[in-house]
Formats: sequence, C-alpha cells, structure tokens
Amino acid sequence: MENVKGKTPSESAVETRYLIMPHHANPQGTAFGGVIMSWIDIVAGMAAQRHTGCEVVTASIDSLSFKAPIRIGDHVTLRASVNYVSRTSMEVGVQVTRENPYDGKQTRATTAHLTFVALDKNKKPTPVLPIIPETPLEKKRYKNAELRVKSRKELLKQIQENETDNKD
Ligand SMILES: CC(C)(COP(=O)(O)OP(=O)(O)OC[C@H]1O[C@@H](n2cnc3c(N)ncnc32)[C@H](O)[C@@H]1OP(=O)(O)O)[C@@H](O)C(=O)NCCC(=O)NCCS
Repeated sequence: MENVKGKTPSESAVETRYLIMPHHANPQGTAFGGVIMSWIDIVAGMAAQRHTGCEVVTASIDSLSFKAPIRIGDHVTLRASVNYVSRTSMEVGVQVTRENPYDGKQTRATTAHLTFVALDKNKKPTPVLPIIPETPLEKKRYKNAELRVKSRKELLKQIQENETDNKD
C-alpha cells in the first residue's frame, strides 16, 4: 500500500544502462555531452514521475559536472533519485558511471542535479508528496539539496532586488 505521508527515495529511484555506440560520440571519439544530458533528463524525469504520480516538467538543470570522459564501447549506468521536495518542485540527483565491460572497472563520469515541477490536469504546478530520506546517504543528499535550493532562492531574490534598485 502507498505510504500517504510521503515516499522514500528508493521507492521512486530509477536505474538504466546504455552501451556507448559510435553515433553517441563527438569528433574526439568520446560520448557527446548533449546525449548524456538527454539521458540524464529522461532518467531524472522518470524518478520525478514515480515520486509524484503526476506529469512533470524540467524547470532547471541546477548543476552538471562532466568528471571523466566516456568512450565508445563503455557501458554507462545512470541512477536517479529524488533528493528533496519543496512544495510543487523537487530536486532529482543523477549519477552517471562508466564501466569498462572487459575489466569491470567503474568510474564516476557525470553528476547532475535537476529541478522538476509537478503539474495537475490543467498543467498548473501542484503540491508534491514529501520525501522521506531513510539511509545516511539519503539524509546527506536531502541536506545538501536543501542548501542548494535555499541558496538558489536567495540568489534569485538578491538579483531581483538589484534589478529593482537599478531601474531607471
Ligand atoms: C516550471 C514551470 C511549470 C513553473 O511555472 P510557474 O508558473 O513559474 O510556477 P510557480 O512560480 O508557481 O513555481 C512553481 C514551482 O516551480 C519552481 N520553479 C519555477 N521556475 C523555476 C526554475 N527556473 N528553476 C527551479 N525551480 C523553478 C518554483 O520555485 C516553485 O517551487 P515550489 O512550489 O516547490 O516552491 C513553468 O516555468 C514551465 O512550464 N516551464 C517550462 C518547462 C518545460 O517546458 N521544460 C522542458 C524544457 S525543454
């Protein structure tokens, strides 16, 4: 039965795998960042849908770090989970790991944080179930996401104040 008080991150987490083919590559022969970004958006959106049971839209990509290149022939695993929920929006974190299929060596290749907004039947933002972090890792991700959300809102507020102050 569904937990009406909220859901844990593991209840909506999504994991998917791809094999990097030549048509995923850039002229340097490594995975094209735009392809990885689209996979990140898809897997993160699926986690947001599973958490909310609603239609969701990507509101922002808050951070994206390409830490290591991914080569043709590598296996890529994308893991997405909801880190934090505000009112109608939520942060989803995605980790991308590359794996050499011959020696099994795994390397963290990309990390991203995205904000999704849940929409009702009229395509208007609608409140989201709370997230219930359980494990130490989930609790750490929740706290870090909360810091990112608060600092993003504070920055936006300061920029808006600055624009109001400097209006001619
Ligand atoms: C995202 C969207 C639904 C927000 O609509 P809105 O009328 O601005 O809604 P609100 O001002 O009521 O904000 C709703 C929530 O979205 C959040 N939000 C709005 N714009 C945001 C942004 N750029 N980044 C992060 N969060 C954002 C707000 O903080 C708020 O969160 P909260 O309820 O948890 O506090 C709207 O801007 C939209 O439809 N954007 C296009 C989405 C899209 O097409 N994505 C695919 C791009 S290819």
